[in-house]
Amino acid sequence: MAEQAGDPLFQSHDPIFDRKELLHVGHVPDEDRIVGRDDEIQSVAAEVGAITRGDPPNNVMIYGKTGTGKSLISRHVATRAQTAARDNEIDCGVLYIDCSEANTETRATRQLALSLKDQTGYQENIPLRGVGTMEYYQHIWGILEGFFDAIIVILDEIDKLDNSNILMQLSRAREAQKTDTYIGVIGISNKVKYRETLDERIDSSFGHRELFFHPYDASQLREIMRNREDAFQPEVLEDGTIELCAALAAKKHGDARKAIEILKEAGELARRTGSETVSEEHIQQAQEVAEINRIEELTSGATVHAKLALYALASRIITGDRETHKTREIYERYVGICNMVTTDPITENGLYRQLKEQAFLGVIESEKTGGGRSQGSYLLHRLVTDPKHIIKAVRRDDSLEELPAYDQLVETGHGTGNRDVDLTSFS
Ligand SMILES: Nc1ncnc2c1ncn2[C@@H]1O[C@H](COP(=O)(O)OP(=O)(O)OP(=O)(O)O)[C@@H](O)[C@H]1O
Ligand SMILES: [Mg+2]
Repeated sequence: MAEQAGDPLFQSHDPIFDRKELLHVGHVPDEDRIVGRDDEIQSVAAEVGAITRGDPPNNVMIYGKTGTGKSLISRHVATRAQTAARDNEIDCGVLYIDCSEANTETRATRQLALSLKDQTGYQENIPLRGVGTMEYYQHIWGILEGFFDAIIVILDEIDKLDNSNILMQLSRAREAQKTDTYIGVIGISNKVKYRETLDERIDSSFGHRELFFHPYDASQLREIMRNREDAFQPEVLEDGTIELCAALAAKKHGDARKAIEILKEAGELARRTGSETVSEEHIQQAQEVAEINRIEELTSGATVHAKLALYALASRIITGDRETHKTREIYERYVGICNMVTTDPITENGLYRQLKEQAFLGVIESEKTGGGRSQGSYLLHRLVTDPKHIIKAVRRDDSLEELPAYDQLVETGHGTGNRDVDLTSFS
């Protein structure tokens, strides 16, 4: 028996988690915890690996949906290449830029220059403000020339950059005789559409290969979670919980981050409710919370009209008998809802654009349908997620919390099959 130490107000022993950090979002797992991405690791290594032999690398673009291991695998391969290069007495640097933060050329080059300086004994002062990209590039070339045979630059979330000049600069640096250092760029994006815009803007000097990371299937997600089971105390995870969590996450998005988050949230739930084990019921509840969080995150940048449009679609689905609805039908309900929250409605065309934006974010799916010869074609919209989650996520917006809750909608619509139920009866 361990003796109780310190203030009894604080439990000295966590009954659920042992090494919770394994489940943190930013946690970078060790090599032996990376599962199901052997081919991808090989492919990335094949593109940048020439560096380790003192040869020029290829640039590579990695595409794939969120949570498919793009950032993890890129960092992993780059670090291994660096070690292998050093074994061959090649000075190889690795630089990681998150372009969702460093989203302009100035910010990105400044960060590149500063982290290069950090990694070396570069003496010159690099100003934080008041200078342009030209000066940062000068520092970058200077440091590369002085300290490195090769570098791998990871530009994560590259689609957030306001222009792609940095790609051009990095890939042409040798040609333009800025430096002799070999530069390998790994660009990462979860927007496959970025590819088209990149092709237009970028010239052949980037000479990049493309890799696509696919969503994980249930068995891969299971393995990923099994490899972090020691985040929990022994015997805490009930049989079948990891399987259920993997199945739920695979069905939804094949997103490893979400799967891990659900597992962690389930543990938190168990602890909050004083349970000694994590059960399937905890996983189910955690999955709901995670899904609502995800929707809230996706729509966090959306206008109030987009949120009302989503609410309108969700409420029609709940009170009606169909999964898909025309723009016009959503618009009609949307106008009614605007009245309830005393907001002036935008035009139907404006609402249509908001719906398109949501389709791009993956909250809804829109499909063109031929309405027969006389009717012409029209769009049908469906929700990608449970309408209940949309209702909850939208109502988390302080200005929209007075909208009817899910249960109220169910009661109103129940048995009536009436898609045009009058929501204003709530106000
Ligand atoms: N193959 C894997 N083995 C173990 N853990 C993984 C694996 N793939 C992803 N993970 C974990 O899942 C989370 C998400 O992975 P990662 O950040 O690489 O996704 P991503 O594809 O970059 O997503 P996003 O597009 O949202 O940035 C991380 O915490 C990572 O540790
Ligand atoms: Mg990423």
